[in-house]
Formats: sequence, structure tokens, C-alpha cells
Amino acid sequence: MKANNVVLITGATSGFGEAAAKVFAAAGWSLILCGRRLSRLETLKETLGQQVAVHIIEMDVRNSAAVKQAIEDLPADVADITTLINNAGLALAPQPAQQVDLADWQTMIDTNVSGLVNVTHAVLPALLRHGAGATMINIGSIAGQWPYPGSHVYGASKAFVKQFSYNLRCDLLGTGVRVTDLAPGIAETEFTLVRTKGDRAASDTLYRGTTPLSAQDIAEQMFYIATLPDHMNINHIEVMPVRQAWQPFAIDRD
Ligand SMILES: NC(=O)c1ccc[n+]([C@@H]2O[C@H](COP(=O)([O-])OP(=O)(O)OC[C@H]3O[C@@H](n4cnc5c(N)ncnc54)[C@H](OP(=O)(O)O)[C@@H]3O)[C@@H](O)[C@H]2O)c1
Repeated sequence: MKANNVVLITGATSGFGEAAAKVFAAAGWSLILCGRRLSRLETLKETLGQQVAVHIIEMDVRNSAAVKQAIEDLPADVADITTLINNAGLALAPQPAQQVDLADWQTMIDTNVSGLVNVTHAVLPALLRHGAGATMINIGSIAGQWPYPGSHVYGASKAFVKQFSYNLRCDLLGTGVRVTDLAPGIAETEFTLVRTKGDRAASDTLYRGTTPLSAQDIAEQMFYIATLPDHMNINHIEVMPVRQAWQPFAIDRD
């Protein structure tokens, strides 16, 4: 491992992001952890701060000015970001498109698309300064590739993440900065609790009786991507649990 590796993780207060913070800390990386729930960030700083440098940022990725300011204000010991993990995101409104409140669509676009773009724009200069081996991991989803009922804007926002990642690679050619779209399938985190606006029973039912991916599974994928030899770029990884697959096309019949 290189000296002074620094990872910035958005959505570090839960799920994939929290697990990633622990995996990178265990390998000695300095951490910049972002999220809106400050108390969770403080708990992580308290525990992981015993192992590595931890800088926390209470930040809503939708607020572009706050994101820019937070990155400009980074203390010198974590300012040279090696890896950005654009992980903050959410799905809302699992019901059919025609029943969804417009506000839920807008929240997904503002978070998964605009939020990811805000953080990317603010952090890119640091990745470019780092050059070879710098890595951006954007958390997409199988929903960005495959349609399913109730995915509407969520899946479309993750398709944006994939295409944005590919397009960035074209512009970053020659800079040494790598970009990966990491697209998980079903994984047990707080994701479904958020999607159902706090319906614990619905969340438990979704994961019961099967073997979803864990947050740890995805965190280890992130670490693998970030620590590949500098000359390698994984463009896209799609990972499902073995117990998830597709179904036949739906047909409307008389
Ligand atoms: N779990 C799955 O099945 C699955 C599958 C494929 C892709 N994904 C994607 O994986 C990523 C992580 O999700 P997860 O499964 O780990 O869900 P999670 O446990 O609900 O974590 C989501 C994280 O995103 C943060 N976040 C949400 N809105 C934010 C905002 N406006 N500003 C800043 N942070 C925000 C949350 O932090 P705060 O609430 O503290 O701000 C939280 O830390 C998301 O992009 C999700 O779409 C999940």
C-alpha cells in the first residue's frame, strides 16, 4: 500500500458506505466520511479514529455549494484524496410510476444524479493532482441496466451513473484517474427501509428466506477496485447474489 492513501466516502453513515469505512480503515487508509446524520459520523470517528485519521463532514450531497466548500476546507492531512466513493443514494416509491409523487422522483434525481455530480466536480481536482492510481468508484445498480416494475426514476438515475462513469473515462484518458461503475444487486442495508419510508416489516420480508449481498461484500469489492495496479481500470462490475436472477418478459393478455 502507498503511504497516505485517503478515501472519501459519501453515504458513510449506513450500509455500503459504513462497511467500506471499516474495510479501508483496517488497511490503514485515512478516511473522509460524509453523510447527513452527524451522530453516526461521530460514532465512526470515535471508533475508527483509534486506527487511522478520520475527517467527518456533515453534508447533504444535494447542496452543491456546501459540497464545494467542504472539499475546499479539507485539512492538509486528508486533502490528497486517492479514492472517491460516490455511494450516497436512495430509492423511493416502489409503487408503479403512475402512482408516485413527483417529489419522490425529484429527490432521487437530486440525490443520485445531481448529488453524485456535485461531489465528483468538487473532488475531481484532487484526484487529478494525485494522478496515476487515483480512483473514482460510482455506485450504480443492476437497476441501471435491467428494467423492473417500480424502478422508474431510480433505475434511470443509476443508468445515468453508469453512462457518466463511462463518459468520464474518455475525458480522463491520460490523467491516470480511474473510474468504475460498481452495480450491486439486492443487498441488505437500510436501503429498503428508506425506500418504504420506514416500513420495517416490508424491509424484513424482502430479505427473509434468501441470501442477499451484504454491505461487507460490496465494501470488499470497493477495496479491490481501489487497490488494483495503477494501469488497470475496471469499467463496470455488476454483482448479484447467486439467489437473484431475471424473470421472463411480462405479457399483457386479454
Ligand atoms: N442495498 C441495495 O440493494 C443496493 C443495490 C444497488 C445499489 N445500491 C446503492 O448503494 C448506495 C448505498 O446504499 P445502501 O444500500 O448502503 O443504503 P443505506 O444503508 O440506506 O445507505 C445510504 C447512504 O446514503 C446516504 N445519503 C442518502 N441521501 C443523502 C444525501 N442527500 N446526502 C448525503 N448522503 C445521503 C445516507 O446517509 P444519511 O442519511 O446520513 O445522509 C446513507 O449513508 C446507494 O447509492 C444505493 O442506491 C443499493
